[in-house]
Amino acid sequence: MSKNVFTEMDGKFAGNEQFQNEGADYFNPQAFIELVYARRSIRKFTDEKIPDHIVDECLDLALLAPNSSNLQTWEFYRLKSEQIKKDVATACFSQPAATTASELIVCVARPDHWRAHCKQMLATFSSLPVETPKSAILYYSKLAPFVYTVGFFNVLTPFKWIFNTLVGFFRMVPREPISSFGLGVWSIKSCSLACENLMLAFRSQGYDTCPMEGYDSVKVKKIMGLPSKAHIVMIVGAGKRAEGGMYGPRIRFPREQFIKTI
Ligand SMILES: Cc1cc2nc3c(=O)[nH]c(=O)nc-3n(C[C@H](O)[C@H](O)[C@H](O)COP(=O)(O)O)c2cc1C
Repeated sequence: MSKNVFTEMDGKFAGNEQFQNEGADYFNPQAFIELVYARRSIRKFTDEKIPDHIVDECLDLALLAPNSSNLQTWEFYRLKSEQIKKDVATACFSQPAATTASELIVCVARPDHWRAHCKQMLATFSSLPVETPKSAILYYSKLAPFVYTVGFFNVLTPFKWIFNTLVGFFRMVPREPISSFGLGVWSIKSCSLACENLMLAFRSQGYDTCPMEGYDSVKVKKIMGLPSKAHIVMIVGAGKRAEGGMYGPRIRFPREQFIKTI
């Protein structure tokens, strides 16, 4: 097996023993099954407000989602201003899932934050009570910048493609992202996982959600003052389920269509 950054990444933090058993004893499949089954997209909510501490806890749980390189290139905007909330709900084509939601959370991927977060990670390492392995420092100071830099106006894209293709003949290379589009996809993947955490967290507290991509993203960005580099991944409406809020039975196609064994 050839050596690469992933095979070498077993460089553990000194004093790692204290983290080794984090979560290891957890075993509660039934609770998870029930939670996953209980989450449905709900399109109408009552006037009942969700207590602040619950919204905060759900948002905190969203932030615990796994994410690429742990660079956390995401943002979650809880719309508190009644005016902004109303305008965003209108930009969601006034769908009831938005207009009746007591909470609207705009989930945003920020691929443009990767560089700042690399620096933040390195600064965080130096403040940890345990010693950071060299491989981790190298990852954020050298490898991540190499992989995620696409250059101004994608100027590096053709060079990265040629480099990856040529080197790829002889050894394995990380092929993506090579463009700002790819970087967007990269960031959206992680943000989507956080969205699922968020929705399951609300459900676990007895509240319902509806993820929405039915919105005019340009309008929403304008209302919220978001830059063009930000990608709105989805807007999550949350609240107490109203009668008639569930539009139909859960429909999923046969599992054989999607689950393959090779
Ligand atoms: C990315 C994404 C965007 C969605 N956009 C909308 C939307 O704009 N409006 C809506 O009513 N539902 C929306 N949904 C909800 C889906 O319609 C719903 O998840 C699907 O029908 C399956 O139903 P279930 O969530 O109850 O299992 C969206 C879901 C996802 C994941």
